[in-house]
Amino acid sequence: MTSSSKTRFALVTGGTSGIGHGFAHVLARDGLNLVIVARNEARLKEVKSELEARYSIEVKIIPRDLADPEAPAQVFEILKQEGIVLSVLINNAGFNVHGKFEETDLDEEIKMMRLHVIAATELTKLFLRQRDRQVGNMILNVASIAGLVPGPLVSVHFATRAYILSFSLALSNELQGSDVHVTCLCPGPTRSAFFGRANMSNVRLASGKPIRLMDSQTVAAIGYDALKKHKRVIVPGYLNKILAFMAAFAPRWLAIKVTRWLMERL
Ligand SMILES: NC(=O)c1ccc[n+]([C@@H]2O[C@H](COP(=O)([O-])OP(=O)(O)OC[C@H]3O[C@@H](n4cnc5c(N)ncnc54)[C@H](OP(=O)(O)O)[C@@H]3O)[C@@H](O)[C@H]2O)c1
Repeated sequence: MTSSSKTRFALVTGGTSGIGHGFAHVLARDGLNLVIVARNEARLKEVKSELEARYSIEVKIIPRDLADPEAPAQVFEILKQEGIVLSVLINNAGFNVHGKFEETDLDEEIKMMRLHVIAATELTKLFLRQRDRQVGNMILNVASIAGLVPGPLVSVHFATRAYILSFSLALSNELQGSDVHVTCLCPGPTRSAFFGRANMSNVRLASGKPIRLMDSQTVAAIGYDALKKHKRVIVPGYLNKILAFMAAFAPRWLAIKVTRWLMERL
C-alpha cells in the first residue's frame, strides 16, 4: 500500500447521512477511497452508487450496528481479509436522546454510550495498530460544543461528547511528532436527520433561533480542512465559536442554565 491518494482508504462511521455524508463527499473529492459503516444497508448501497458515479474512487460498505460490542473488531477483520489499510478514520456516527434522565429510555442511552464512547475508542485503537507508519495518518473524532458543558435534558449525550473531546486531546498530545494527527470536530446545531430522529425538532436549539443551524456539508468541509491543517480542535461557525467561548469562560451555573433553556421544547 502506498501513500498515493488512489490507494488510500478512509473509514467514515455514519457516512450515509448529515455530517458523515458530508465527510464522505469531501474525502472522495480529495481522491480517497472510502469504507462506510452504518446500519441501513439500502441507504449504504445508495450512497456507494452516488459516490462511485461522481468520483473515481472505490467505496466499500459495511452494514453494522456499532453499538454492538462485536462490531468494531468485525469491521477491522473484514478490512484485513480484503487487504485494506486505512490512513484516515472519521469517528462520526451518533444520535441523541432527549428528556429528563429519570424518564428517558436506559437501553437507548446504553447504546449511545456504546456507540459514542466504546466503539469510537475501540475503532481508534484498531486503526492505530493496523496503520502503515510510513505514510501520514489522520483521525477525526466528531464530538460537539456539547462536550464543553453539562447538558440538562440531554445529560448522557453531552457527557459522551465531553469524553470524546478529552480523549482526542490526550491522544493528540501522545501522538505529537508521529505519523498520526488527531483532530476533534465540535459542531454546534447542524441541519441533518439528527434532531428529527431524536424527536427534538421542537427543541429551542433545533429551531434555528437564536443559533442558526449550519449546513452539514459545510461542517464536514471545515472539519476536513482543520484535519489537513493538523488543528487539534475545530469549532465550525462564528456563532458556535462564541458559544464555545462562553461555555469555557462563563460561570458553570450560568452555562448550564443557558444550555437547559436551549434544550427545552418550544
Ligand atoms: N446535527 C447536529 O446538530 C450535531 C451537533 C453536534 C454534533 N453532532 C454529532 O455529529 C455526528 C453526526 O450527526 P448528524 O447530525 O450527521 O446525524 P444524522 O444525520 O442522524 O446521521 C447519523 C449517522 O450515524 C449512523 N448511525 C447512527 N447510529 C448508528 C449505529 N448504532 N451504528 C452505526 N451507524 C450509526 C446513521 O446511519 P444508520 O441509522 O443507518 O445507522 C447515520 O449515517 C453525531 O455523532 C452527532 O452527535 C451533531
